[in-house]
Amino acid sequence: MKVVFITGGAGFIGSALIRLLIAESDWRIVNIDKLTYAGNLASLAAAGRDPRHVFRHHDICDRQAMDALFAEYRPDGIIHLAAESHVDRSIHGPGDFIQTNVVGTYTLLEATRTYWSSLDTAARTAFRFHHVSTDEVFGSLGPSGLFDESTAYDPRSPYSASKAASDHLVRAWQHTYGLPTLVTNCSNNYGPYQFPEKLIPLMIGNAVAGKPLPIYGKGDNVRDWLYVDDHARALKLVFEKGRPGETYCIGGRNEMTNLQVIDTLCDLLDRRHPGSEGRRHAGLKTFVADRPGHDQRYAINADKIRRELGWMPLETFASGIEKTVSWYLENTEWTSHVQSGAYRQWIDRNYTQR
Ligand code: NAD
Ligand code: DAU
Repeated sequence: MKVVFITGGAGFIGSALIRLLIAESDWRIVNIDKLTYAGNLASLAAAGRDPRHVFRHHDICDRQAMDALFAEYRPDGIIHLAAESHVDRSIHGPGDFIQTNVVGTYTLLEATRTYWSSLDTAARTAFRFHHVSTDEVFGSLGPSGLFDESTAYDPRSPYSASKAASDHLVRAWQHTYGLPTLVTNCSNNYGPYQFPEKLIPLMIGNAVAGKPLPIYGKGDNVRDWLYVDDHARALKLVFEKGRPGETYCIGGRNEMTNLQVIDTLCDLLDRRHPGSEGRRHAGLKTFVADRPGHDQRYAINADKIRRELGWMPLETFASGIEKTVSWYLENTEWTSHVQSGAYRQWIDRNYTQR
Protein backbone atom coordinates (compact mmCIF):
# COMPACT_ATOMS: atom_id res chain seq x y z
CA MET A 1 0.00 0.00 0.00
CA LYS A 2 1.37 3.43 -0.94
CA VAL A 3 2.08 5.80 1.93
CA VAL A 4 1.52 9.56 1.99
CA PHE A 5 2.63 11.90 4.77
CA ILE A 6 0.12 14.65 5.45
CA THR A 7 1.35 17.47 7.67
CA GLY A 8 -1.29 19.55 9.43
CA GLY A 9 -3.89 16.81 9.03
CA ALA A 10 -5.72 17.83 12.21
CA GLY A 11 -6.41 21.30 10.82
CA PHE A 12 -9.32 22.57 8.76
CA ILE A 13 -8.14 21.71 5.23
CA GLY A 14 -5.86 18.80 6.22
CA SER A 15 -8.73 17.02 7.96
CA ALA A 16 -10.98 17.51 4.90
CA LEU A 17 -8.23 16.03 2.72
CA ILE A 18 -7.84 13.02 5.01
CA ARG A 19 -11.59 12.43 5.08
CA LEU A 20 -11.52 12.50 1.25
CA LEU A 21 -8.48 10.21 0.89
CA ILE A 22 -9.94 7.66 3.29
CA ALA A 23 -13.24 7.68 1.38
CA GLU A 24 -11.90 7.85 -2.19
CA SER A 25 -8.38 6.40 -2.39
CA ASP A 26 -6.15 3.55 -1.25
CA TRP A 27 -3.45 5.73 0.32
CA ARG A 28 -2.15 4.83 3.74
CA ILE A 29 -1.94 8.17 5.55
CA VAL A 30 0.57 9.23 8.18
CA ASN A 31 -0.85 12.43 9.67
CA ILE A 32 1.91 14.52 11.27
CA ASP A 33 0.55 17.33 13.42
CA LYS A 34 1.78 19.31 16.41
CA LEU A 35 -1.80 19.96 17.57
CA THR A 36 -1.48 23.69 18.06
CA TYR A 37 -4.65 25.59 19.07
CA ALA A 38 -5.83 24.97 15.45
CA GLY A 39 -5.36 21.20 15.49
CA ASN A 40 -8.36 19.11 16.49
CA LEU A 41 -8.46 15.35 15.98
CA ALA A 42 -12.24 15.39 16.33
CA SER A 43 -12.28 17.07 12.89
CA LEU A 44 -11.16 13.81 11.31
CA ALA A 45 -14.47 12.20 12.30
CA ALA A 46 -14.63 8.48 11.36
CA ALA A 47 -11.59 8.80 9.05
CA GLY A 48 -9.43 9.25 12.15
CA ARG A 49 -10.30 5.72 13.28
CA ASP A 50 -9.70 4.08 9.91
CA PRO A 51 -6.83 1.55 9.94
CA ARG A 52 -5.30 3.38 6.93
CA HIS A 53 -4.84 6.51 9.09
CA VAL A 54 -1.96 6.82 11.54
CA PHE A 55 -1.61 9.92 13.70
CA ARG A 56 1.86 11.06 14.82
CA HIS A 57 2.06 13.97 17.23
CA HIS A 58 5.15 15.93 16.15
CA ASP A 59 6.42 19.40 15.30
CA ILE A 60 7.65 19.66 11.68
CA CYS A 61 10.56 21.77 13.03
CA ASP A 62 11.90 18.67 14.83
CA ARG A 63 14.42 17.26 12.35
CA GLN A 64 15.18 14.13 14.36
CA ALA A 65 11.50 13.25 14.58
CA MET A 66 11.01 13.86 10.84
CA ASP A 67 14.02 11.63 9.98
CA ALA A 68 12.64 8.88 12.22
CA LEU A 69 9.22 9.07 10.53
CA PHE A 70 10.79 8.77 7.06
CA ALA A 71 12.79 5.73 8.20
CA GLU A 72 9.74 4.12 9.82
CA TYR A 73 7.13 4.65 7.09
CA ARG A 74 9.17 5.15 3.86
CA PRO A 75 6.52 7.37 2.19
CA ASP A 76 5.85 7.73 -1.54
CA GLY A 77 5.05 11.42 -1.14
CA ILE A 78 4.10 14.30 1.15
CA ILE A 79 1.29 16.80 1.14
CA HIS A 80 2.47 19.62 3.37
CA LEU A 81 -0.29 21.69 4.97
CA ALA A 82 1.05 22.31 8.49
CA ALA A 83 1.25 26.05 9.06
CA GLU A 84 0.20 28.94 11.19
CA SER A 85 -2.69 30.15 9.05
CA HIS A 86 -4.42 33.21 10.54
CA VAL A 87 -3.47 36.69 9.32
CA ASP A 88 -4.66 38.50 12.48
CA ARG A 89 -2.51 36.25 14.69
CA SER A 90 0.47 36.89 12.43
CA ILE A 91 0.04 40.63 13.00
CA HIS A 92 -0.08 40.22 16.79
CA GLY A 93 2.76 37.68 16.97
CA PRO A 94 4.74 36.80 13.84
CA GLY A 95 7.30 34.54 15.58
CA ASP A 96 5.37 31.27 15.32
CA PHE A 97 4.71 31.99 11.63
CA ILE A 98 8.42 32.30 10.87
CA GLN A 99 9.14 29.20 12.93
CA THR A 100 6.55 26.81 11.50
CA ASN A 101 5.98 28.20 8.01
CA VAL A 102 9.60 28.99 7.15
CA VAL A 103 11.85 26.95 9.46
CA GLY A 104 9.37 24.05 9.55
CA THR A 105 9.11 23.88 5.76
CA TYR A 106 12.91 24.08 5.47
CA THR A 107 13.29 21.27 8.04
CA LEU A 108 10.78 19.11 6.22
CA LEU A 109 12.47 19.76 2.87
CA GLU A 110 15.85 18.73 4.25
CA ALA A 111 14.48 15.58 5.93
CA THR A 112 12.71 14.77 2.65
CA ARG A 113 15.84 15.37 0.59
CA THR A 114 17.93 13.04 2.76
CA TYR A 115 15.33 10.27 2.50
CA TRP A 116 14.58 10.89 -1.20
CA SER A 117 18.29 10.79 -2.11
CA SER A 118 18.49 7.29 -0.67
CA LEU A 119 15.74 5.92 -2.97
CA ASP A 120 16.34 4.00 -6.20
CA THR A 121 15.80 5.89 -9.47
CA ALA A 122 12.21 4.75 -10.04
CA ALA A 123 11.13 5.68 -6.51
CA ARG A 124 12.94 9.03 -6.71
CA THR A 125 11.14 9.84 -9.97
CA ALA A 126 7.74 8.84 -8.61
CA PHE A 127 8.13 10.72 -5.29
CA ARG A 128 6.18 14.01 -4.80
CA PHE A 129 6.56 16.87 -2.33
CA HIS A 130 3.33 18.86 -2.58
CA HIS A 131 3.40 22.22 -0.80
CA VAL A 132 -0.02 23.71 -0.01
CA SER A 133 0.03 27.49 -0.20
CA THR A 134 -2.16 30.52 -0.50
CA ASP A 135 -3.13 33.24 -2.99
CA GLU A 136 -2.06 35.82 -0.36
CA VAL A 137 1.56 35.46 -1.55
CA PHE A 138 0.54 37.50 -4.64
CA GLY A 139 -0.46 40.56 -2.59
CA SER A 140 -3.58 42.61 -3.27
CA LEU A 141 -5.49 43.19 -6.52
CA GLY A 142 -7.16 46.41 -7.68
CA PRO A 143 -10.78 46.37 -8.88
CA SER A 144 -9.95 44.20 -11.92
CA GLY A 145 -7.61 41.32 -12.86
CA LEU A 146 -6.96 37.87 -11.46
CA PHE A 147 -3.99 36.07 -9.90
CA ASP A 148 -2.55 33.19 -11.91
CA GLU A 149 0.60 31.04 -11.93
CA SER A 150 2.66 33.83 -13.54
CA THR A 151 1.71 36.57 -11.04
CA ALA A 152 4.73 38.10 -9.28
CA TYR A 153 5.02 37.59 -5.54
CA ASP A 154 4.12 40.60 -3.36
CA PRO A 155 3.24 39.35 0.15
CA ARG A 156 2.17 42.05 2.57
CA SER A 157 1.36 40.46 5.96
CA PRO A 158 3.66 38.44 8.22
CA TYR A 159 1.52 35.38 7.37
CA SER A 160 1.72 35.83 3.61
CA ALA A 161 5.43 36.71 3.75
CA SER A 162 6.13 33.50 5.68
CA LYS A 163 4.10 31.46 3.15
CA ALA A 164 5.90 33.19 0.25
CA ALA A 165 9.24 32.29 1.85
CA SER A 166 8.16 28.67 2.10
CA ASP A 167 7.02 28.62 -1.56
CA HIS A 168 10.43 29.95 -2.61
CA LEU A 169 12.21 27.31 -0.52
CA VAL A 170 10.18 24.52 -2.10
CA ARG A 171 10.92 25.77 -5.64
CA ALA A 172 14.62 26.17 -4.77
CA TRP A 173 14.77 22.53 -3.60
CA GLN A 174 13.25 21.48 -6.92
CA HIS A 175 15.56 23.66 -9.01
CA THR A 176 18.75 22.90 -7.06
CA TYR A 177 18.36 19.30 -5.95
CA GLY A 178 15.77 18.00 -8.43
CA LEU A 179 13.22 17.16 -5.70
CA PRO A 180 9.91 16.54 -7.55
CA THR A 181 7.77 19.30 -6.02
CA LEU A 182 4.30 20.67 -6.62
CA VAL A 183 2.98 24.00 -5.31
CA THR A 184 -0.68 24.96 -5.10
CA ASN A 185 -1.90 28.49 -4.27
CA CYS A 186 -5.53 28.56 -3.20
CA SER A 187 -8.06 31.26 -2.35
CA ASN A 188 -10.17 31.53 0.84
CA ASN A 189 -11.67 28.25 2.02
CA TYR A 190 -14.85 27.81 4.03
CA GLY A 191 -16.84 24.83 5.24
CA PRO A 192 -17.22 22.45 8.19
CA TYR A 193 -14.60 22.20 10.96
CA GLN A 194 -13.04 25.64 10.36
CA PHE A 195 -11.61 27.22 13.49
CA PRO A 196 -13.94 30.06 14.58
CA GLU A 197 -11.27 32.76 14.31
CA LYS A 198 -11.87 32.93 10.53
CA LEU A 199 -14.58 35.16 9.04
CA ILE A 200 -17.35 32.68 8.20
CA PRO A 201 -17.38 30.43 11.31
CA LEU A 202 -16.81 33.48 13.54
CA MET A 203 -19.84 35.24 12.06
CA ILE A 204 -22.05 32.14 12.29
CA GLY A 205 -21.07 31.55 15.94
CA ASN A 206 -21.55 35.19 16.93
CA ALA A 207 -24.86 35.53 15.08
CA VAL A 208 -26.27 32.39 16.71
CA ALA A 209 -25.16 33.70 20.12
CA GLY A 210 -26.65 37.15 19.43
CA LYS A 211 -23.20 38.78 19.66
CA PRO A 212 -21.86 41.62 17.45
CA LEU A 213 -20.55 40.72 13.98
CA PRO A 214 -17.23 42.64 13.75
CA ILE A 215 -16.62 43.98 10.23
CA TYR A 216 -13.13 45.32 9.60
CA GLY A 217 -13.03 48.75 7.91
CA LYS A 218 -15.86 49.31 5.42
CA GLY A 219 -16.47 45.62 4.72
CA ASP A 220 -15.67 46.16 1.05
CA ASN A 221 -12.61 43.86 0.89
CA VAL A 222 -13.11 41.09 -1.65
CA ARG A 223 -12.25 37.41 -1.18
CA ASP A 224 -12.71 34.52 -3.65
CA TRP A 225 -14.44 31.76 -1.67
CA LEU A 226 -13.97 28.01 -2.23
CA TYR A 227 -15.76 25.19 -0.41
CA VAL A 228 -13.14 23.17 1.47
CA ASP A 229 -14.07 19.80 -0.08
CA ASP A 230 -13.49 21.30 -3.54
CA HIS A 231 -10.01 22.34 -2.40
CA ALA A 232 -9.39 18.82 -1.02
CA ARG A 233 -10.37 17.29 -4.39
CA ALA A 234 -8.00 19.67 -6.16
CA LEU A 235 -5.15 18.72 -3.81
CA LYS A 236 -5.70 14.99 -4.40
CA LEU A 237 -5.71 15.57 -8.17
CA VAL A 238 -2.55 17.70 -8.19
CA PHE A 239 -0.72 15.29 -5.88
CA GLU A 240 -1.64 12.24 -7.98
CA LYS A 241 -1.56 13.75 -11.50
CA GLY A 242 0.19 17.15 -11.41
CA ARG A 243 3.41 17.71 -13.34
CA PRO A 244 6.43 17.88 -11.00
CA GLY A 245 7.97 21.35 -10.78
CA GLU A 246 4.64 23.01 -11.60
CA THR A 247 2.41 25.44 -9.72
CA TYR A 248 -1.39 25.30 -9.82
CA CYS A 249 -3.70 28.14 -8.73
CA ILE A 250 -6.98 27.01 -7.17
CA GLY A 251 -10.06 29.17 -6.66
CA GLY A 252 -13.84 29.10 -6.91
CA ARG A 253 -14.55 32.27 -8.95
CA ASN A 254 -16.79 33.33 -6.08
CA GLU A 255 -15.70 36.90 -5.51
CA MET A 256 -17.65 38.60 -2.75
CA THR A 257 -17.17 41.57 -0.46
CA ASN A 258 -17.11 40.74 3.23
CA LEU A 259 -20.41 42.60 3.60
CA GLN A 260 -22.01 40.41 0.92
CA VAL A 261 -20.80 37.29 2.74
CA ILE A 262 -22.10 38.52 6.10
CA ASP A 263 -25.47 39.60 4.64
CA THR A 264 -25.84 36.16 3.02
CA LEU A 265 -25.12 34.49 6.36
CA CYS A 266 -27.58 36.77 8.17
CA ASP A 267 -30.35 35.99 5.66
CA LEU A 268 -29.69 32.26 5.93
CA LEU A 269 -29.72 32.39 9.72
CA ASP A 270 -32.92 34.46 9.77
CA ARG A 271 -34.52 31.48 8.01
CA ARG A 272 -32.72 28.64 9.75
CA HIS A 273 -32.21 30.02 13.25
CA PRO A 274 -34.55 32.99 13.83
CA GLY A 275 -33.46 35.43 16.58
CA SER A 276 -35.74 36.04 19.55
CA GLU A 277 -38.76 38.30 18.90
CA GLY A 278 -38.09 38.06 15.17
CA ARG A 279 -34.84 40.07 15.58
CA ARG A 280 -32.91 40.06 12.32
CA HIS A 281 -29.26 38.97 12.45
CA ALA A 282 -28.15 41.85 10.21
CA GLY A 283 -28.84 44.12 13.20
CA LEU A 284 -25.72 42.62 14.84
CA LYS A 285 -23.37 44.00 12.15
CA THR A 286 -20.75 46.24 13.79
CA PHE A 287 -18.02 48.16 11.96
CA VAL A 288 -14.70 48.00 13.80
CA ALA A 289 -11.13 49.21 13.21
CA ASP A 290 -9.58 47.83 10.05
CA ARG A 291 -6.92 45.08 10.00
CA PRO A 292 -3.50 46.77 9.58
CA GLY A 293 -2.29 46.39 5.99
CA HIS A 294 -5.61 44.78 5.02
CA ASP A 295 -5.35 43.40 1.44
CA GLN A 296 -8.22 44.80 -0.64
CA ARG A 297 -9.02 42.05 -3.14
CA TYR A 298 -8.02 38.48 -3.98
CA ALA A 299 -9.30 36.54 -7.00
CA ILE A 300 -7.91 33.46 -8.74
CA ASN A 301 -7.78 32.39 -12.36
CA ALA A 302 -7.98 28.58 -12.06
CA ASP A 303 -7.84 27.87 -15.83
CA LYS A 304 -4.60 25.84 -15.62
CA ILE A 305 -5.84 23.20 -13.17
CA ARG A 306 -9.12 23.01 -15.09
CA ARG A 307 -7.37 22.64 -18.46
CA GLU A 308 -4.60 20.23 -17.42
CA LEU A 309 -6.28 18.15 -14.73
CA GLY A 310 -9.99 18.63 -15.36
CA TRP A 311 -10.71 20.09 -11.91
CA MET A 312 -13.91 22.07 -11.38
CA PRO A 313 -15.50 23.09 -8.09
CA LEU A 314 -18.68 21.12 -7.36
CA GLU A 315 -20.17 23.74 -5.05
CA THR A 316 -21.40 27.23 -5.88
CA PHE A 317 -21.16 29.76 -3.05
CA ALA A 318 -24.93 29.43 -2.54
CA SER A 319 -24.80 25.63 -2.13
CA GLY A 320 -21.57 25.63 -0.11
CA ILE A 321 -22.65 28.29 2.35
CA GLU A 322 -26.00 26.56 2.89
CA LYS A 323 -24.16 23.31 3.70
CA THR A 324 -21.75 25.18 5.96
CA VAL A 325 -24.47 26.91 7.97
CA SER A 326 -26.33 23.60 8.33
CA TRP A 327 -23.15 21.92 9.55
CA TYR A 328 -22.48 24.56 12.23
CA LEU A 329 -26.12 24.49 13.38
CA GLU A 330 -26.10 20.68 13.58
CA ASN A 331 -22.62 20.20 15.09
CA THR A 332 -22.81 22.37 18.15
CA GLU A 333 -20.76 19.85 20.17
CA TRP A 334 -17.68 20.40 17.95
CA THR A 335 -18.07 24.18 18.19
CA SER A 336 -18.75 24.26 21.91
CA HIS A 337 -15.71 22.05 22.60
CA VAL A 338 -13.58 24.45 20.56
CA GLN A 339 -15.04 27.49 22.34
CA SER A 340 -14.64 26.00 25.83
CA GLY A 341 -11.20 24.51 25.16
CA ALA A 342 -12.52 20.99 25.88
CA TYR A 343 -11.07 19.79 22.54
CA ARG A 344 -7.60 20.25 24.04
CA GLN A 345 -8.42 17.94 26.97
CA TRP A 346 -9.68 15.35 24.52
CA ILE A 347 -6.30 15.51 22.75
CA ASP A 348 -4.36 15.24 26.02
CA ARG A 349 -6.35 12.16 27.05
CA ASN A 350 -5.91 10.34 23.76
CA TYR A 351 -2.40 11.12 22.65
CA THR A 352 0.97 11.75 24.23
CA GLN A 353 4.14 12.96 22.55
CA ARG A 354 5.96 9.94 21.13
P1 NAD B 1 -5.34 25.39 10.21
O1 NAD B 1 -4.76 26.51 11.01
O2 NAD B 1 -6.76 25.04 10.36
O3 NAD B 1 -4.49 24.05 10.47
C1 NAD B 1 -3.10 24.03 10.56
C2 NAD B 1 -2.68 22.67 11.14
O4 NAD B 1 -1.24 22.65 11.19
C3 NAD B 1 -3.17 22.43 12.58
O5 NAD B 1 -3.70 21.14 12.70
C4 NAD B 1 -1.92 22.62 13.43
O6 NAD B 1 -1.94 21.86 14.63
C5 NAD B 1 -0.83 22.15 12.46
N1 NAD B 1 0.48 22.72 12.78
C6 NAD B 1 0.78 24.03 13.01
N2 NAD B 1 2.10 24.16 13.29
C7 NAD B 1 2.64 22.91 13.21
C8 NAD B 1 3.96 22.41 13.37
N3 NAD B 1 4.97 23.21 13.69
N4 NAD B 1 4.17 21.09 13.20
C9 NAD B 1 3.14 20.25 12.87
N5 NAD B 1 1.87 20.67 12.74
C10 NAD B 1 1.62 22.00 12.89
O7 NAD B 1 -4.99 25.75 8.70
P2 NAD B 1 -5.82 25.48 7.36
O8 NAD B 1 -6.77 26.59 7.17
O9 NAD B 1 -6.30 24.07 7.37
O10 NAD B 1 -4.65 25.66 6.27
C11 NAD B 1 -3.85 24.55 5.89
C12 NAD B 1 -2.83 25.00 4.88
O11 NAD B 1 -3.49 25.54 3.74
C13 NAD B 1 -1.90 26.10 5.37
O12 NAD B 1 -0.62 25.84 4.87
C14 NAD B 1 -2.47 27.37 4.80
O13 NAD B 1 -1.47 28.33 4.59
C15 NAD B 1 -3.03 26.85 3.48
N6 NAD B 1 -4.18 27.60 2.94
C16 NAD B 1 -5.28 27.88 3.72
C17 NAD B 1 -6.38 28.54 3.18
C18 NAD B 1 -7.62 28.83 3.99
O14 NAD B 1 -8.49 29.54 3.50
N7 NAD B 1 -7.76 28.32 5.21
C19 NAD B 1 -6.35 28.91 1.82
C20 NAD B 1 -5.21 28.62 1.06
C21 NAD B 1 -4.15 27.95 1.63
O1 DAU C 1 -6.73 33.77 0.71
C1 DAU C 1 -6.36 32.61 1.38
C2 DAU C 1 -6.25 32.90 2.86
O2 DAU C 1 -7.58 33.07 3.35
C3 DAU C 1 -5.54 31.78 3.63
O3 DAU C 1 -4.21 31.70 3.20
C4 DAU C 1 -5.56 32.07 5.13
O4 DAU C 1 -4.99 30.97 5.83
C5 DAU C 1 -7.01 32.23 5.56
O5 DAU C 1 -7.06 32.57 6.94
C6 DAU C 1 -7.69 33.32 4.73
O6 DAU C 1 -7.14 34.63 5.04
P1 DAU C 1 -8.07 35.92 5.24
O7 DAU C 1 -7.35 36.93 6.03
O8 DAU C 1 -8.65 36.35 3.93
O9 DAU C 1 -9.26 35.23 6.10
P2 DAU C 1 -10.12 35.74 7.35
O10 DAU C 1 -11.21 34.75 7.53
O11 DAU C 1 -9.27 36.04 8.53
O12 DAU C 1 -10.74 37.10 6.83
C7 DAU C 1 -11.53 37.15 5.65
C8 DAU C 1 -11.92 38.60 5.41
O13 DAU C 1 -12.83 39.01 6.46
C9 DAU C 1 -10.76 39.57 5.47
O14 DAU C 1 -10.97 40.60 4.53
C10 DAU C 1 -10.83 40.15 6.89
C11 DAU C 1 -12.31 40.13 7.19
N1 DAU C 1 -12.70 39.92 8.61
C12 DAU C 1 -12.19 38.84 9.25
C13 DAU C 1 -12.51 38.59 10.56
C14 DAU C 1 -11.93 37.40 11.31
C15 DAU C 1 -13.60 40.77 9.22
O15 DAU C 1 -14.09 41.76 8.62
N2 DAU C 1 -13.95 40.52 10.52
C16 DAU C 1 -13.43 39.47 11.22
O16 DAU C 1 -13.76 39.31 12.43
